[in-house]
Amino acid sequence: MTFDELYQDMSSKLKGLVPEIELHYKAELAYKIIQLKEETNAVILGHNYMEPALFHSIPDFTGDSLSLCQQAAKTDKDIIVFCGVRFMAETAKILNPDKTVLIPAEKAGCSLAEGITADDVCWLRKRFPGVPVVSYVNTYADVKAETDICCTSGNAVKVVESLNTDTVIFLPDEYLAANVAKESGKHIIFPTRKSKKSDLDHIDYQMIGWKARCEVHEQFKVDDIKNIRKQFTDILVLAHPECSPEVVEAADFTGSTKAMISEVQNSNAKRYLLLTECSMGENIAAENPEKEMIRLYSIRCPHMNQITLENTLKALQKTQYVVDVPEDIRRRAAQSVERMIEIF
Ligand code: 13P
Ligand code: SF4
Repeated sequence: MTFDELYQDMSSKLKGLVPEIELHYKAELAYKIIQLKEETNAVILGHNYMEPALFHSIPDFTGDSLSLCQQAAKTDKDIIVFCGVRFMAETAKILNPDKTVLIPAEKAGCSLAEGITADDVCWLRKRFPGVPVVSYVNTYADVKAETDICCTSGNAVKVVESLNTDTVIFLPDEYLAANVAKESGKHIIFPTRKSKKSDLDHIDYQMIGWKARCEVHEQFKVDDIKNIRKQFTDILVLAHPECSPEVVEAADFTGSTKAMISEVQNSNAKRYLLLTECSMGENIAAENPEKEMIRLYSIRCPHMNQITLENTLKALQKTQYVVDVPEDIRRRAAQSVERMIEIF
């Protein structure tokens, strides 16, 4: 692809979203990245929350956590550049120990991944012996290593059901766990390290959760949905399952970022409210100009926001920041990720 072709392609999608002068500058960066990507035999994976100019130019694959995991498992390239947050890049490394995995911003974390430690999982296992542990992929490798099977927002209910057990430990997202429990008709409890054994022994439960939250999705409120519905009676409201159960209940649709995108593409509604990270709404608007995204919230994930075209170019130029996982942890973490991928 020549520079002019790339610029025209970006311009046709991003006109109106990105100012002209910025678009030219970003297209120049994207062009350099694409050339370097070919020279270094790299693949670029871009999460749906990447900013519009990056999302619509450099990734070979875009998607939600599950589809990017699947792409990472399949790649034959030498280098994987992960335009997403650390737990995602770590998952790519877990699945590809012999490849170089790069993350453009070293400190791009996640409030969910930081909300639980491997030690917490060991405590839960001791407290609830024999109960299988399902961990959301939004966890670090050492937590995945203590886990039986991983899940993503796109397959959480199916993963829990696939275990066929009376009880399951589901970590670490309080809201995703509560949404899964609701959908599968299970009663859930949220023990803490301070919970007394005697307090837990007499409660009837089928799921055991943990109280970590996504700092983006916990901000969406039911009252805002009610108010926007008064203003636009024809609006379609979509909520990511990291939102509270009350918000998910008040929405018309819930699903992973990929499922939300498909729902907008396949729907005939004119207006949409997306209760998720705001860049995704911009990315959908770029490809579906006839559909109106209502900008009620403008909440950017501070971690996803750290990934830019500038630092992606640097990542390829300097081979930074290399993501490594100690081999004993990687091996055990791989089992829980591969178990999930085998099912889906
Ligand atoms: P998805 O797997 O739905 O893309 O979600 C990842 C995430 O971090 C949402 O905040
Ligand atoms: Fe983590 Fe929330 Fe950011 Fe997703 S949006 S990466 S769950 S902090």
